Amino acid sequence: MAGILVTTREKEGDGKVDDFSLRDLLAERAGEGLDLYARHSNPRFVQILRILGFDRQWARAEGAYLFDRNGTKFLDWLGGFGMYNVGRNNATVRRALEDLLALQTPSLPQLGLSDLPGLLAEALLQVAPASTDRVLFVNSGTEAVEAALKLARAAAGRPRVVAVENGFHGLTLGSLSVNGSPAAKAAFEPLLPGIALVPFNDLAALDAELRHEDVALFLTEPVQGQGVVLPEPGYLPAAQELCRRYGTLFGVDEVQTGFGRTGTMFAGQHWGLEPDLVTVAKSLSGGYVPVGALLLRSSVHDAVFDSLEHSTVHGSTFAPNDMAMAAGLATLAELQSHDLVAHSARLGDYLLARTRPLVEAFEVVKEVRGLGLMWAIEFGEPRRGSRAWRLLEARQPGIFAQFVIGPLFREHHILSQVAGHSINVLKGLPPLPVDESDIDWFAGALEQVLEQAQRLPRAALGFAAHAAATLPLRLRR
Ligand SMILES: Cc1ncc(COP(=O)(O)O)c(C=O)c1O
Repeated sequence: MAGILVTTREKEGDGKVDDFSLRDLLAERAGEGLDLYARHSNPRFVQILRILGFDRQWARAEGAYLFDRNGTKFLDWLGGFGMYNVGRNNATVRRALEDLLALQTPSLPQLGLSDLPGLLAEALLQVAPASTDRVLFVNSGTEAVEAALKLARAAAGRPRVVAVENGFHGLTLGSLSVNGSPAAKAAFEPLLPGIALVPFNDLAALDAELRHEDVALFLTEPVQGQGVVLPEPGYLPAAQELCRRYGTLFGVDEVQTGFGRTGTMFAGQHWGLEPDLVTVAKSLSGGYVPVGALLLRSSVHDAVFDSLEHSTVHGSTFAPNDMAMAAGLATLAELQSHDLVAHSARLGDYLLARTRPLVEAFEVVKEVRGLGLMWAIEFGEPRRGSRAWRLLEARQPGIFAQFVIGPLFREHHILSQVAGHSINVLKGLPPLPVDESDIDWFAGALEQVLEQAQRLPRAALGFAAHAAATLPLRLRR
């Protein structure tokens, strides 16, 4: 019976047949996505896209580029919030998935295993910090964090967890409990008990929490995604040392920083970290399939999965599914065969060299910072003071960064993001295969937008005032 999804078609030899065709569906309903999503899913999100002018109809994506329905090419400066490290629609990963579908593998016998989870666990541990020797698969970043919280508390036999102010670890309840921004949590209290937050880069505060020897886990991002905050050089090794001293497990959230983002396979390598637990997700599947994993010491794992009875105390129905596992294997192969980790380090240096001069050139630029291809520019009130700036910021904190991403998108076809709620930081997480010309495209465009803002203060401020008046802006870290 033909219906909303099933179409009746002529099929050679069979006469008319009812069939589902994704191609037909997408061709027939092309361009309806925003309206449908607004009607049936999240109207406020669609409203924000429309107000900001980000309501493009996207048609295709490849590598570091997105193409709209008119064929206009956009540079992807946010990389799907950092999940397209190997580039969008990566051919190697796609081929692996096509092979997998053609092979009709068993995927999840559930009482049984296919070959792929073991193969991906083996491959992951070859690149993981040497301190980790087990892999627990989950479906997303926040699930990896949930697993870390749950297993660490059980393994340590202690109730408390310490996390870091301004940290981000996902939006489910456990992960939200260790979120470092009170505003993000306010509507959802009470959350997990026994959580303490300490400032990032503050060892004395960490020591004061850990010294009671009742903390199971200290969890931190190596580089904070919100605002791209870099650790001071000795901070992470010293934090790890404190954890060892007080019997606290040391957990590093590499969901965003993993898989070459910061110029090493995992960011912890910059400081020679040996964490007890590492969370990964995002780019592990090349951006095709939801995936996540907790990499951990076998001593922590085995303290929880400590008997046959407890062999399934944590897991999730879809977790080690063949699509995610195959995509993960192909992604790791792709990172290796194209030397994308070293490429990220090299291009990150080039990006800093192209953009650091903006600090001298523009009063409104406070700092440019980055590690590999995790990059940010921070704006602030011009040094000689600006009443207009203060007025706008009082009305809508972080509005200037919003004002920059708009023209970057509309006039220069670059999709970028602000790095968090109410902060004046524009952030970059481009797919790692970007080349020098992409960096030049971005750096040149950014300079022009900042020049315009400087030359046309009235128009700029008029736009910002309008935006400030209309928008409760909140577009992810
Ligand atoms: C450091 C970090 N941890 C956890 C998460 C949550 O990941 P997911 O969105 O896959 O749940 C994110 C997402 O941005 C993240 O950046």
